[in-house]
Amino acid sequence: MQTIHTIAELRSVLNAERRNGKRIGFVPTMGNLHEGHLQLIDQAKANSDVVVSSIFVNPLQFGQGEDLDNYPRTLVEDQEKLQSRGCNFLFAPSDAEVYPHGREAQTQVEVPVISDLYCGSSRPGHFRGVATVVTKLFGMVQPDVAIFGEKDFQQLMVIERMTEDLSLPVEIQGSPIARNEKGLALSSRNGYLSDEERETATNLYASLKAAAEKLQAGDKDFSGIEEEAQNKLEAVGFERDYYKVCRRYDLQPAGPEDKELVILAAARLGPARLIDNIQINL
Ligand code: PAJ
Repeated sequence: MQTIHTIAELRSVLNAERRNGKRIGFVPTMGNLHEGHLQLIDQAKANSDVVVSSIFVNPLQFGQGEDLDNYPRTLVEDQEKLQSRGCNFLFAPSDAEVYPHGREAQTQVEVPVISDLYCGSSRPGHFRGVATVVTKLFGMVQPDVAIFGEKDFQQLMVIERMTEDLSLPVEIQGSPIARNEKGLALSSRNGYLSDEERETATNLYASLKAAAEKLQAGDKDFSGIEEEAQNKLEAVGFERDYYKVCRRYDLQPAGPEDKELVILAAARLGPARLIDNIQINL
């Protein structure tokens, strides 16, 4: 695997691949890679000829007081993991390479409506930062296909909408959530948790599974389900953020007629803000 730090070099190696008719698969990340990220690499490999991953802790998507400075940066370990899964190129640019005119002067990409819900309301400007950097990375890599995790379900929806609205010639694929043996969704932010908190954290997915079972059994009292789940999570030590039964196609609150649902949840546990979700087909 070759690690590349500049856009010029990236363009030059990928142009050569494209000239040889290779299909390019892309997995953008912020590094500190775990099995969830590596499954995206596997999916990219299965759907393309040349796999590019990026590691860039994007300052634009972090709010005031968030964990930008503390976000784990583990380039050497990440390189080994990517190499072991057959990634061909790692693009790891500096802030100045991505934002040469500074962050304030950067043209930004705004995906309306969906960006203001849930994580967007808890983290104002977050999805503008994500949409902007992903648009830029698409311009740098020019992938045929890009893979995103369903772990960040709202992010995946924002990127699908953005790609469609801007007519970007990239196929967007989602990839299932990777979990540990106790059901906790893998996340770089789990590293902020103590052993005890990590145990408590498993309640989030357990709660989503219980709520999904109620929906499967025909319960239509969505706000009752949401409230009960949040109360139970608070009782074991979570601080509530949001917990919402949504219709999957636009993430608006679900109505009784909706069949394709997703429950989106976020809650704070000690030093970490955890998110998870579960899809339900009625
Ligand atoms: P990051 O949090 O590093 O995640 C990179 C990709 O890995 C995202 O598509 C995310 O959904 C996926 N992912 C993380 N944990 C996962 C899990 N347990 N199972 C499956 N997929 C998982 O998301 C970002 O970075 C950034 O916002 C980015 C898109 C790179 C833009 O900066």
